[in-house]
Amino acid sequence: MTALPGQAPQKSIRGLTPSAANGQTLALRGAILSFGHRLDSDSPQFQTFTDLAGHRSGLLFIPDGIVYIVDGLIAWVLPADEAVAQLPVDCPVHRYQDRLIMPGFVDTHTHFPQLEVIGRMGHTLLDWLENYTFPAEARFSDLSHAQRAAQVFLQELSRHGVTTASVFATVHPESADAFFKIAQASRLRMICGKVLMDTNCPKNLCDGSDHGMAQTESLISRWHGRDRLRYSLTPRFAPTSSPEQMRAVGALLQDHPGLHLQSHLAETRQELDWVARLYPHHPSYLDVYQHFGHLGRGTIMGHCIYLSDGDRRVMADTQTAIAFCPSSNLFLGSGLFDLQSALQAGISVGLASDVGGGTSPSMLKTMLDAYKVLKLRDQTLSPEYAFYLATLGGARALGLESVIGSLEAGKEADLIVVNPEATPLLAHRAAASESLSDLLSALITLGDERCIEACYIQGQPVMAQALGT
Ligand code: GUN
Ligand code: ZN
Repeated sequence: MTALPGQAPQKSIRGLTPSAANGQTLALRGAILSFGHRLDSDSPQFQTFTDLAGHRSGLLFIPDGIVYIVDGLIAWVLPADEAVAQLPVDCPVHRYQDRLIMPGFVDTHTHFPQLEVIGRMGHTLLDWLENYTFPAEARFSDLSHAQRAAQVFLQELSRHGVTTASVFATVHPESADAFFKIAQASRLRMICGKVLMDTNCPKNLCDGSDHGMAQTESLISRWHGRDRLRYSLTPRFAPTSSPEQMRAVGALLQDHPGLHLQSHLAETRQELDWVARLYPHHPSYLDVYQHFGHLGRGTIMGHCIYLSDGDRRVMADTQTAIAFCPSSNLFLGSGLFDLQSALQAGISVGLASDVGGGTSPSMLKTMLDAYKVLKLRDQTLSPEYAFYLATLGGARALGLESVIGSLEAGKEADLIVVNPEATPLLAHRAAASESLSDLLSALITLGDERCIEACYIQGQPVMAQALGT
């Protein structure tokens, strides 16, 4: 029995453990697609694609293939004619004719409390935060409100085929607790953190005199590493954290090198000016985070539109990742992310919805917005690279590539089944597609959650409504 060639399972950054074994098997049959594989195979199932900096990477495409899953992990992936003879006779096979079976999407930056402010129009970032977002987040002091919101959010993620996300809660520890609890029941692989902010914010959203650190430590001890959940230190952004809070976050990260850290960086010019006024002795916005020890592998910064070449070098050297948030770039009018320069600098980049500055949890729609943002910068995003960013690219940006992001032996079987005929228009367009690449373009341009026909978490189908009960 041949395991799928490709990346050898890499050492994980943060003590990721496989699930317990009980011998449960399942096979999914359909067109298999997976992005970002190593180029060490001359198998006809591997094609190549390039990113905007000219780096080549492998794409696995098997028009009729089988993913064999044992105990929630991918055991192997093979063409159906080779695989059928090797399947145990009692193994159930879920057959998906004319459907694409691919890794679940990874959203590297989103805010679960902001579903209810999606599409609030008329402002740029700082006014949008003050007028819409902070009042909405203030309602999360009510635990039942937070629970309902977390439930709807996680339900939406699985309906949209997002199986892993890095998620901001609110400043209230109850909001993170509610999120983790429902995420645990959903079995989705989730990263989350209570927002930290203790200055330049409304009183009812302000951390207390210990800067929110005791609440953070308590949440870490309860949730980090529990089942598929991981904790991310979440200072909202430099303007809303005092130097004392920034320092405490850096110290906690040094004490717990396994934690993630998420924040915002260089999203608008107005924000840049504000940070320059607050931290006049720092040569750049990024330098503030670096000074307080926030950078490193496991840290991901949302936006990063206004970076210098020097900033990019620092991010690459420290292995700090970027969450590219194209629909938020466009909706808030913040600016256009320069993906090519980030990739040329060697920075790891993932795709992100940034709901509610972003306009949809759909990674297909987010890919389309990424294409448009980059077009306005004279950069052309290939459909293959867009799908890579939304799967293995995101997993790498979050340091989770040893366990999720591609269809490779040993990885967790978080998979989606994509229907390229989900709407009459998409079916019409798909029928005329000239190549796999063209079909992926059609899916990006016309697709949405209606294309997500099924979602498997650790090899088990999720019914979106099951999360809602
Ligand atoms: N910067 C600080 N907070 C936020 C937020 O909630 N959304 C976005 N897009 N940018 C931010
Ligand atoms: Zn954000």
